Amino acid sequence: MTHDFDMVIFGGLGDLSLRKLLPALYRSEVSGHFPEGARIFLVSRRVESREQELTRIHEWLSTQLKSGESPASHWQVFEERLHLCALDVTENGEGWAQLEQPLSDIPEGQAPRDRVFYLAMPPSLYGTICEQLSARNLIHEASRVVLEKPLGYDRNTANDINTQVGKYFPENSIFRIDHYLGKETVQNLLALRFANIMFEPLWNGNYIDHVQISLSEEVGLEGRTAFYDQAGAMRDMIQNHLLQLLCLVAMEPPHKLQADNIRTEKLKVLQALRPLTGYEVQSHTVRGQYVEGMMHGKEVPGYLDELGKDSQTETFVAIKAHIDNWRWSGVPFYFRTGKRLRQRCAEIVIQFKSLTHNVFDGTSTHLAANRLVIRLQPDEGIEMTVMAKELNHLDMRLQQVPLNLNFAETFSNFYSDAYQRLLLNVIDNDLSLFAHRDEADLAWAWVDPIINAWNTSGTPVQTYEAGSWGPDASAALLHSDRRAWHNNGGSKRSKK
Ligand code: BG6
Repeated sequence: MTHDFDMVIFGGLGDLSLRKLLPALYRSEVSGHFPEGARIFLVSRRVESREQELTRIHEWLSTQLKSGESPASHWQVFEERLHLCALDVTENGEGWAQLEQPLSDIPEGQAPRDRVFYLAMPPSLYGTICEQLSARNLIHEASRVVLEKPLGYDRNTANDINTQVGKYFPENSIFRIDHYLGKETVQNLLALRFANIMFEPLWNGNYIDHVQISLSEEVGLEGRTAFYDQAGAMRDMIQNHLLQLLCLVAMEPPHKLQADNIRTEKLKVLQALRPLTGYEVQSHTVRGQYVEGMMHGKEVPGYLDELGKDSQTETFVAIKAHIDNWRWSGVPFYFRTGKRLRQRCAEIVIQFKSLTHNVFDGTSTHLAANRLVIRLQPDEGIEMTVMAKELNHLDMRLQQVPLNLNFAETFSNFYSDAYQRLLLNVIDNDLSLFAHRDEADLAWAWVDPIINAWNTSGTPVQTYEAGSWGPDASAALLHSDRRAWHNNGGSKRSKK
């Protein structure tokens, strides 16, 4: 990166900033991605003295960075970039001067610096912040804004927020962040599909039996009770992360790997996603909520215990979906996400069809169909299962074996920080890994009727034991199609 920039983080001392943004920015410092003059403004309602806040950030970073990413090495340079601003964005007060003055303080003759406003605050404040920025002439041609998810609560609220922000920033300056798109394996999915000749001819309903996209987490609420109980797994994970992954798996090859082309293709997938309504919501979806259970030999509380009140919010969702277009006709896409599941694992499974004829009949009666697993985390990598001959047998006995590309083993120093990549993309003005307003809108349009049908059905959420793979109905969703979830770790029974 060669051009100077200013990044202003609203919510700069908040949870997201501390947990994700500051470690990512610090890593970018260490890896030499920042030009000398880059500045970072941390805006927060309450700021103790600069010294106190910087000590706190420094200590925090030491706990967040892995060994070998020593915070001491570049801390001095990094801390000089940090500017703290005590500012209540809802007030018209003097606090804004702390931003106005340094941002407009550009030496004569120099071009305006790129300016990134990162809104790491509740979306209900996005409109107010943008309005203030505009009123104070802080938005110029080289300004962009980064919006964190969840963007709204449903289609209407999301549209309102997008409209408010859209009054002040053109669409090509709005970066809607979805950190799943910054994961290394997600971009490798694009390389796999569009840089190799052998997958694309098979990437359709003639050869693919079904696709699974599964984002399972071991963590529970992590203290985010108020937010999570409002959102639930559908709004928190499916509406954004999971549907974005679906788009990349299912889209047609873009003309070029550039933002506009990718966005056009992603939109077509969302347009073709078959709506689920009425009875189909009952038969094609499962929503669950965890109760107490055992995880790694330790007892963990149930969702309601963590929450401290009654609730029907789902912490687990499984869905069978279809994409109504030429390529994917007849191919079910199974989605699954949940908290307090048996294993943390995010993966995309492409299950190919069985061979139509077995020439090995007699020695191997069953030929397992090929399977491609794209693992986002942990152990990022790509695995293809193929049939091969068992060694040391005279006859042709076959067995299923993996062809494995494990990133950590293949690429030395493999380390991936999704936020770092995406922040650098924002600074670089590269929109290709960010969602367009229309994508968010279509995703809500698909998700809203499902949530509404759940709410009006009166059917209680199904419970599952923490440490299991979700409610029994989730396994049954696939069993009734003679299929099964790809669970690395086996299964555990759930409670009804
Ligand atoms: C966030 C959700 O967007 O993604 C969290 O709000 C979830 O609830 C998190 O835990 C999962 O991200 P990752 O990268 O840890 O899989």
